[in-house]
Amino acid sequence: MTKRILLLGATGLIGRAFARAASPYRWTLIAPPRAEADLTHPATLRGLFHRTEPDLVVNAAGLADVDSAERHEDEAMAINFEGPATLAAQCSTRDIPLVHLSTDYVFDGRDAAPYNEDAPMNPLNVYGYSKMMGEEAIRHELAWHVILRVASVFGGARKNILTKTLDAIDTQDEVRCVADRTSAPTPDHAVAHALATIAEKVMEGGLGLYGTFHFCGAPIASRYAFAKAVMEAYAPFTDRRPKIVPATSEIFADLAPRPLFSALDCRKIERVYALAQPDWQDALPAAIQASFAAKSAR
Ligand SMILES: NC(=O)c1ccc[n+]([C@@H]2O[C@H](COP(=O)([O-])OP(=O)(O)OC[C@H]3O[C@@H](n4cnc5c(N)ncnc54)[C@H](OP(=O)(O)O)[C@@H]3O)[C@@H](O)[C@H]2O)c1
Repeated sequence: MTKRILLLGATGLIGRAFARAASPYRWTLIAPPRAEADLTHPATLRGLFHRTEPDLVVNAAGLADVDSAERHEDEAMAINFEGPATLAAQCSTRDIPLVHLSTDYVFDGRDAAPYNEDAPMNPLNVYGYSKMMGEEAIRHELAWHVILRVASVFGGARKNILTKTLDAIDTQDEVRCVADRTSAPTPDHAVAHALATIAEKVMEGGLGLYGTFHFCGAPIASRYAFAKAVMEAYAPFTDRRPKIVPATSEIFADLAPRPLFSALDCRKIERVYALAQPDWQDALPAAIQASFAAKSAR
């Protein structure tokens, strides 16, 4: 019998990419709209599990806008903490696995080497705190969990570091970018492939597949280095040639503080799932083309 995967967040950046990555697999993908899968309504979630009877759940839903989370703490906690706790409890009742996305922002960014899965969490902002609490709730409720921490995911759809950089190139003569904060940009399709690989292997069964894993692109880059690479990859498609100017994070009026260094050590996922870190630079041309398609579909 084909396995049934319940996907939450199917309209999001990562959710959409996962739906594309899932198409070659012999799964039935159930991707309800937000109204039928609202993380802030436990009764709706319970009804959803009852109706759909999944074999595995992928949670790609969340409040991912860091400054919005800072402004709306209750909403961030409801979506990123209480919702995942309900999902984990439902999965526990049915004895099925949950694959959940978390973030490099659970760390404070004071280390100088990539964070491994056992590094202590110490989030600097509401978003990171709400995601940390979501992780802890899942660990408490359900042994059959995979928490996949990812970082700076980009693609053609929704608002993300790539689409924001392209908008800035299109509209500004001088694009100022943070040069003193580094992370690991990660293509959305690589995250989706990682999720699909995890789902497939977990449903096949095996040892050591559960727990927390890190996955991000390489090499590590500041937003300034990322913007320069985007400019280069975008050049064949545009006449725009704004100056890309390095800036310190202090001059940006971000509401929420952010970690200065949040690259992730990805050796565990490579060992357990044979998933290698993608080179994000290689993924830029296709992602830029995908952004044109997403724009014209709007
Ligand atoms: N993007 C990144 O750089 C990044 C980095 C690290 C971790 N993550 C994590 O990855 C996950 C997905 O991120 P993303 O970038 O794909 O975010 P996204 O593009 O903003 O998508 C978020 C998804 O969650 C849905 N959603 C929001 N509130 C909901 C609610 N109350 N109930 C049910 N669904 C709700 C959204 O639905 P609507 O379409 O209706 O808004 C959308 O489908 C999040 O958990 C995020 O924390 C992302």
